[in-house]
Amino acid sequence: MSIDQKTLINAANILRSSRFTTAHTGAGISVESGIPPFRGEGGLWDRYDSRLLEIDYFMENPAKSWKTIKEIFYDHFGKAKPNPAHLVLAEMERKGMLGRIITQNIDNLHQKAGSHNVFEFHGNSQRLICLHCGKTYDVDEISLDHLPPKCSHCGGLLKPDFVFFGEQIPSEPLNAAYEATKISDVILIIGTTGEVMPANQIPFLAKNNGAQIIEINPKESHFTNTITDIYLEGKAGETMEQLGKILFPASLDNDHDSVNQNLKIHGQ
Ligand code: APR
Repeated sequence: MSIDQKTLINAANILRSSRFTTAHTGAGISVESGIPPFRGEGGLWDRYDSRLLEIDYFMENPAKSWKTIKEIFYDHFGKAKPNPAHLVLAEMERKGMLGRIITQNIDNLHQKAGSHNVFEFHGNSQRLICLHCGKTYDVDEISLDHLPPKCSHCGGLLKPDFVFFGEQIPSEPLNAAYEATKISDVILIIGTTGEVMPANQIPFLAKNNGAQIIEINPKESHFTNTITDIYLEGKAGETMEQLGKILFPASLDNDHDSVNQNLKIHGQ
């Protein structure tokens, strides 16, 4: 389905005139990068038992949990590249049209696309942390051939530094998200069901504080018929590419190339 030009232009005008826009992104923004979502069509939780990502289960069955974690998050994620949705958000940041990104994703694609003001509500799969001494590692420096991986410093159990079910949200992204609900006059929701607490509260709190809500999703979410003011019914990559062409018509291709150059430098 294609979104009518009038709705896109309306959304672009709101984004252009906004004082402080926060993007609130979920797994859907990375689907066009080849990373499956958790729920809905092709959802990971239809194929894997989400219990494996509960912290208590992980602590009792680290080897079993790590086998699935490696399959889901490391065998595939690592090769994923940002798609136009990530790239346009990075361009919006460069052009001063985006204050910050609050992402539920752990795939590092916002950073790979060149975004800097990124707050990861559920952490990041790139880092592993030792549960005994707290030493952190980049996953690329650790072999996942023997599971569970152990700390080379103290022999302790290594855990991906992302939030498991039953764990607290780290204070930095939590504070940044709640601050965003007070200072944002626009929330751009991209690719999330709005199923998971407390991330799903952010758009509702911002709405209560007077923010306008723009949402991009091919399917309705918990936000669409409750708080969304402008619903762009479409895929993130396609829709953001169209928005990008309206927001900054001339420069996107050059910057797109410069971002691709940037990705090549970083060996993506
Ligand atoms: N573009 C935009 N949105 C898409 C696309 C796409 N190409 N494809 C799917 N979607 C939408 C789906 O319609 C759905 O609303 O992305 C959403 C994916 O939903 P979830 O998988 O539930 O993702 P999310 O809301 O981010 O999940 C929240 O749940 O399991 C936990 O920690 C995990 O961060 C995750 C949290």
